[in-house]
Amino acid sequence: MVAHRGASEDAPEHTLAAYVKAIEDGADALECDVRLTADGHLVCVHDRRVNRTSNGRGAVSALELADLATLDFGTWKGRDEAGESPDWGDPGATSVLTLERLLELVADTDRRIELAIETKHPTRWAGQVEDKLLQLLDRFGLAAPAAPEESAVRVMSFSARSLHRVAEAAPTLPTVSLTQFVTPRLRDGRLPAGARIAGPSIRIVRHHPAVILRLRQAGHQIHVWTVDEPEDVELCVRLGVDGIITNRPKQVLTQLGRL
Ligand code: G3P
Ligand code: CA
Repeated sequence: MVAHRGASEDAPEHTLAAYVKAIEDGADALECDVRLTADGHLVCVHDRRVNRTSNGRGAVSALELADLATLDFGTWKGRDEAGESPDWGDPGATSVLTLERLLELVADTDRRIELAIETKHPTRWAGQVEDKLLQLLDRFGLAAPAAPEESAVRVMSFSARSLHRVAEAAPTLPTVSLTQFVTPRLRDGRLPAGARIAGPSIRIVRHHPAVILRLRQAGHQIHVWTVDEPEDVELCVRLGVDGIITNRPKQVLTQLGRL
């Protein structure tokens, strides 16, 4: 079970507060989106701009890490009627989160935690996102697992080009092809070159279960996003999917009888 942006229903997405909670809640893996700052750091932010999830404004790609470090990524979440937000712990818990810091958190955890890292709009950077990502994973000894099945990291993307780059440079690192549309290729149970695992949206699972069965017949693992409703969890289990990506790790683990 993969915690989407951390335990992002309960805590501000992509912050240490959300990832620490996901680990405490029992998540097997953490999902994060990565983007490059203007000065070349990989940070965990979903949107192109920081406007929705911080008290700042502007595109991540136009800001330097030092600019992002002045912002708070927690106060927008869970505000009460008086506009007060909950206390998310020390200020660092809601600072901008670098991928490096997230990797440190995982390395310092005393049980195995996997990472599902999504490259966002990587084509804009012509390979720099993948290069930086692989360099960073290499520093943590995660870029070249002996076999894909042993990897603690998966690289996900909606961009086939991004997955292809990763597959070329790091052939044993598993890649997940994210998709929200049923293409003829998907109907045939095929994935883009370089992709190892299918990553369909829950809408595809709900409305096109035959596509899921076809992908399974073709021997692909299937990781579904974003699965928050109990009936969707049940459907995923019934169809035998391999990974459930959710904003509600505790609720899903409870439903699966693991808590
Ligand atoms: O886990 C895949 C999912 O995160 C893709 O959609 O928009 O939440 O990044 P999005
Ligand atoms: Ca994502």
